[in-house]
Amino acid sequence: MKRKIAIVGLGYVGLPVAVAFGEKHSVVGFDINKNRIETLKSGIDYTNEVEPKDLAKAKIEFTSEGAKLKEADFIIVSVPTPINAHNQPDLTPLLKASETVGANLQKGAIVVYESTVYPGATEDDCVPVLEKASGLECGKDFFVGYSPERINPGDKVHTFTTITKVVSGQTSEVLEIIADVYASVVTAGVHKASSIKVAEAAKVIENTQRDVNIALMNELALIFDRVGIDTAEVLEAAGTKWNFLKFTPGLVGGHCIGVDPYYLTHKAEMVGHHPEVILAGRRINDDIGRFVATSLVKKLIKHNLPVQGARVTVLGLTFKENVPDLRNSRVIDIIRELQEYGIDVQVTDAYADPGEAVREYDVTLTPYDELLAADAVVLAVSHNEYIEAGWTQFERLLKHGKGIVMDIKSALDKDSRPEIIDLWRL
Ligand SMILES: NC(=O)c1ccc[n+]([C@@H]2O[C@H](COP(=O)([O-])OP(=O)(O)OC[C@H]3O[C@@H](n4cnc5c(N)ncnc54)[C@H](O)[C@@H]3O)[C@@H](O)[C@H]2O)c1
Repeated sequence: MKRKIAIVGLGYVGLPVAVAFGEKHSVVGFDINKNRIETLKSGIDYTNEVEPKDLAKAKIEFTSEGAKLKEADFIIVSVPTPINAHNQPDLTPLLKASETVGANLQKGAIVVYESTVYPGATEDDCVPVLEKASGLECGKDFFVGYSPERINPGDKVHTFTTITKVVSGQTSEVLEIIADVYASVVTAGVHKASSIKVAEAAKVIENTQRDVNIALMNELALIFDRVGIDTAEVLEAAGTKWNFLKFTPGLVGGHCIGVDPYYLTHKAEMVGHHPEVILAGRRINDDIGRFVATSLVKKLIKHNLPVQGARVTVLGLTFKENVPDLRNSRVIDIIRELQEYGIDVQVTDAYADPGEAVREYDVTLTPYDELLAADAVVLAVSHNEYIEAGWTQFERLLKHGKGIVMDIKSALDKDSRPEIIDLWRL
């Protein structure tokens, strides 16, 4: 039976999902953000995940009217799952979306959650809301499933259709339907998980594993800084062993890697286990911005430059390279720490929206061409533009073309560094 699909939440995840389905099916795309709906209707995706031509081709009815969901019998929910100020899961958007879906649910419909959650959230947190809002019984009148999203914003190779899709369903019949619906658009195929909890857990551990591995690299960077050796060189040497895993130190920001582990640790506490390794990793990763800033202050002192009033340029504010996404960027930790020392920090970003930078972080972005010459430059985010501009850009960005460059991701070619530049790498 052909399913009528609706996507609830059209952000970095939901829009590519809607567009992929919209190539083959007619789809309802629902979001509470009216501005998002209006811009999508005019053919613009301000997250840059979908090309205008693909958006134009897809058969999607964009709407912020919940009642439109009544037309659908296969509803995919991809709303944010953030954490609060105490690093606890904030399920508000997920539960609000479930309320809207529930209020417009028809008998026989299947609701599939794609948002990242802890094991148990779909059945224990969302289903009661769906039942209450709809007056229907889950498992009899409607069904649920879970299919985690694995897209990687900015990555044009690993996309919604080219990554194996893990799917799960409340019953084996529902699982088959969910698998068929996704298989109709995901060319990489589907993996049928044995239960909804297994699928939920699979997603959250993918990001937890990455977080812990990066934390180990960051801890090594802290050690090697004291030893006085270059971490990238150590990793290059160790990486020649066949089973050495290739992770690198860095800031861990964004709304996934730095957030999802807290969903797992929350669940762990709920079931009586106090997680240690995962939280230790979180602590190390959350402290890297401060470490970069204090390392820079030490450098300024070594260069006999007064710290107070020194000018530092930060290249990049987004949470990762080549995307406009500012959410939970840890570059702000570097900026704030430097400002606490009385340093004058100017920030530029090739992708970020200047208005959003002010709203999110109270940071006024300076256009790259208007940057004043500084005592030091922090290459915080390796946007292609900064890597392509290479060492020559520092002739203008640094006072008299000399000074300190902090290359956080070791993205510049160390061997061609001009001698007058004092290079620091994490
Ligand atoms: N962005 C990623 O790289 C990525 C990758 C894998 C998984 N995820 C997970 O996918 C989920 C969505 O993430 P995202 O990056 O797409 O978030 P996002 O913030 O880009 O988009 C979420 C959208 O949901 C909308 N929304 C919020 N509440 C709503 C509601 N009640 N009803 C309808 N729409 C609502 C917002 O307006 C927004 O447009 C999260 O759980 C996230 O952890 C994200």
